[in-house]
Amino acid sequence: MDQLLEWIRISAPSRIAILTGAGISAESGIPTFRGTGGLWENWRPEELATPEAFGRDPELVWRWYEWRRNLIAGTRPNAAHAALAELEQELGSERVTLITQNVDGLHRRAGSQNVIELHGNITRARCTSEATTIDHPKLFGEALPRCRCGAPLRPDVVWFGEALPEGAIERASAAVIAAHLLLVIGTSGVVYPAAGLVQLMAAGEAAEINPDPTPLTRVCRFAVRATASEATPRVVRAILKARS
Ligand code: OAD
Repeated sequence: MDQLLEWIRISAPSRIAILTGAGISAESGIPTFRGTGGLWENWRPEELATPEAFGRDPELVWRWYEWRRNLIAGTRPNAAHAALAELEQELGSERVTLITQNVDGLHRRAGSQNVIELHGNITRARCTSEATTIDHPKLFGEALPRCRCGAPLRPDVVWFGEALPEGAIERASAAVIAAHLLLVIGTSGVVYPAAGLVQLMAAGEAAEINPDPTPLTRVCRFAVRATASEATPRVVRAILKARS
């Protein structure tokens, strides 16, 4: 952390990209996917998070997402989400791009606006037949809802084996390439193409914030072994101070 803060003080980075994963929402009470207590310890991704799983048993998949939607509805953004929103507010949206693998919507609820949701958003549903999306979480329930056209709705998230939302990885790549500093917060760095973004760093430096090492650690110049809500506000304060 000290080395990162010193580098920030000297370099005064003003174009920032941030890549977040489930770990940034852990302190809001949302379980991560991998590791002790992670979702994939109790459920198998291929039974719940693939198009094939939905084809086989849409009600089961829908109920699982509804359970997660309810869990998320009872949570709030934490100090890390809030600090990143403040960073964007202070530096301007054109200088701060938040790329997230999370579907929980907490970055937007914290106030971030320039957010690229690589894996979609759990509060939206989308028609399995038309391009229609529906953004009214309270309309959903345990039963599999249907679109006005009669086709079942599915969660508007990216499942394993599916393409990312159109243009998302291109916009994310451009932000990483242009960044002076890339913060990599709370991701295990094993799911692609998100994890591959870190390799695109050009002139800037990457800093990982994660209590545990990951495969991305070796490509990051700095590794801060702390939780997101401990470390992120300090890093943001340093960035804002360095430019004043
Ligand atoms: P993972 O569950 O794979 O990894 C969470 C990471 O957060 C781990 O490296 C933890 O060490 C770290 N972590 C835990 N608590 C933390 C804290 N308080 N502060 C900071 N870091 C903490 O989550 P993702 O990397 O986001 O995809 O997973 C990537 C994708 O795999 C998800 O988007 C999801 C999943 O399958 C889809 O559903 C398509």
